[in-house]
Amino acid sequence: MMTKPYALGGFIRDLEDIVTAEHDQARIVAGVEPLVQRLVGSDDLSWLKPEYRQLPQGKTGVASGYGQYCLYRRGTALSVIVFCWGPRQGTPIHDHLSWGVLGFIDGMEKETRYKRVDDGTNAEYAQLEEVGVHYTEKGRTSHLVTPSRDVHKVENPGDTPSVSIHVYGCDMGRQQRRRYDLQSGKIQWYTTPHDSDEIVVP
Ligand SMILES: [Fe+2]
Repeated sequence: MMTKPYALGGFIRDLEDIVTAEHDQARIVAGVEPLVQRLVGSDDLSWLKPEYRQLPQGKTGVASGYGQYCLYRRGTALSVIVFCWGPRQGTPIHDHLSWGVLGFIDGMEKETRYKRVDDGTNAEYAQLEEVGVHYTEKGRTSHLVTPSRDVHKVENPGDTPSVSIHVYGCDMGRQQRRRYDLQSGKIQWYTTPHDSDEIVVP
């Protein structure tokens, strides 16, 4: 007998069960990461629209190098987003101010992680130290926990789009978060709006 593939509907139900039951970031991440692993590790990715594995058409400006396709969001409490990075595109150093779970679908991502080494009291400047470089593998997962594992930059070093699914304990299309300049230490607040929305729950 064929077993039904794990798809987005089942994933969202399981995800909502976890965030209803758990409030500690580490426990949420421990529950959600195996679900994301199951979703991205499947041979059947028919739950993911082909156009979300490409850059958005007609986007201009600094955000034209990536797509941010929101599959599901509920208020400011939860979002499930597909990110697509164009070849040799990447992010500034940034944080999320939320827990997060990432699952890798196409291509490769290079993640450089940082930690803040000043006392954290200055809201406009931060001193960061690089703590490691990680390369993703298709079908694998990673996670974020704020503030201990929350600051990184991500690049697509390859010649083809890199595609990953991200789950956050906030709406990452509206979340006010910070980007960091490594040399000057300057902190800037910013947001990254979604390019599209699928299921929106108030
Ligand atoms: Fe990030």
